[in-house]
Amino acid sequence: MILIVFLVLLILLSSPESLLGGVPVDCHERCGSLNIPFPFGVTDGCFREGFRLRCNNISSVPHLYLESDTELTMPITNISLPTGEVRIRHPILYECYGQARRTASPPFSVNISGTIYTFSDTSNRFTAVGCDTQGYINGTVNSTGSMTPFTVGCISTCYQSESVVNGVCSGIGCCQSGIPKGIKYFEVGFNSYYNHSRVFNFNPCSYVFLVELDHYKFTSQDISEEFYSEYSGWVPAVLDFSIGTESCGEARRKAGYACVSGNSVCSTASSGSGYICSCSPGYEGNPYLKNGCQGQSY
Ligand SMILES: *[C@@H]1O[C@H](CO)[C@@H](O)[C@H](O)[C@H]1NC(C)=O
Ligand SMILES: *[C@@H]1O[C@H](CO)[C@@H](O)[C@H](O)[C@H]1NC(C)=O
Ligand SMILES: *[C@@H]1O[C@H](CO)[C@@H](O)[C@H](O)[C@H]1NC(C)=O
Ligand SMILES: *[C@@H]1O[C@H](CO)[C@@H](O)[C@H](O)[C@H]1NC(C)=O
Ligand SMILES: *[C@@H]1O[C@H](CO)[C@@H](O)[C@H](O)[C@H]1NC(C)=O
Ligand SMILES: *[C@@H]1O[C@H](CO)[C@@H](O)[C@H](O)[C@H]1NC(C)=O
Repeated sequence: MILIVFLVLLILLSSPESLLGGVPVDCHERCGSLNIPFPFGVTDGCFREGFRLRCNNISSVPHLYLESDTELTMPITNISLPTGEVRIRHPILYECYGQARRTASPPFSVNISGTIYTFSDTSNRFTAVGCDTQGYINGTVNSTGSMTPFTVGCISTCYQSESVVNGVCSGIGCCQSGIPKGIKYFEVGFNSYYNHSRVFNFNPCSYVFLVELDHYKFTSQDISEEFYSEYSGWVPAVLDFSIGTESCGEARRKAGYACVSGNSVCSTASSGSGYICSCSPGYEGNPYLKNGCQGQSY
């Protein structure tokens, strides 16, 4: 009997539903090794409006990108529905000094205005690594209804490699700062006091990046030139996503409310605007699909 129920369930789960009159679908899409859960999707009819992603199938290993990321600068590495997070690879930006020559990564800016995403202010830290280093990001942020310019950054100095301490990112070789809530647009900038001329023999480069706080631990080797290649040029960063801009209470009374599964709950998105859905305690699955939240079996 249990086996039959299980088989029926399996058939129900594996049969593709169709998008009829805006009813959520689960197309079971993948890009490379990554599952793409609804409301995300790459093919027409498989995603909720605003949740379209792009699977770049050109390279031997396909990568997933935000639809707005036309330059393919930030591949997606993880989608977490319960926390409302999308993890991306954020490039490490560098500025290096050689014999009277400066080399630097191309100017970097991100613009995810008009999308469902914002850079998470709780999970990410702006980070600068170097001994003659001022790093910053500037841009605009929607603060209390109007677009306000912001600049955040930090300064890191050291005079000898011995003063740099493993695991300590507080201004000697490494510094961090928080970022404002709700960032959708920023540019990255560098400055230095002496073009690294006084620290050149042990620290020719400055590095800056946004990084998921729990996924970067500064080590004293990071001030060396090998840092960039050791990290393959990128670090993980976190985007929060949200459904719409309304509160749960407002959205629940309207068509298009996204938490369609039984045993699902609505909560305010981390960005402070809009909402996300999750399964009630004791249930797991996809709250954005009809019957998506299933009782956990032990
Ligand atoms: C990627 O390309 C392969 C073969 O060219 C194809 O079978 C697969 O469906 C493509 N995947 C996506 C997500 O477009
Ligand atoms: C994605 O992130 C979530 C939450 O951090 C984690 O539980 C999950 O294992 C990750 N999935 C993959 C494929 O890395
Ligand atoms: C960011 O993108 C939005 C929408 O695509 C556009 O209207 C805006 O001008 C862009 N902002 C900047 C500073 O490029
Ligand atoms: C960021 O700073 C740079 C250099 O100071 C400046 O050229 C640029 O206009 C600034 N961008 C914003 C959005 O403020
Ligand atoms: C800024 O936020 C307000 C609501 O807080 C919204 O009405 C407005 O459209 C937003 N402006 C932009 C440019 O995104
Ligand atoms: C740093 O280098 C720039 C050119 O890249 C030069 O104009 C400037 O004078 C240098 N500053 C110092 C303090 O050496």
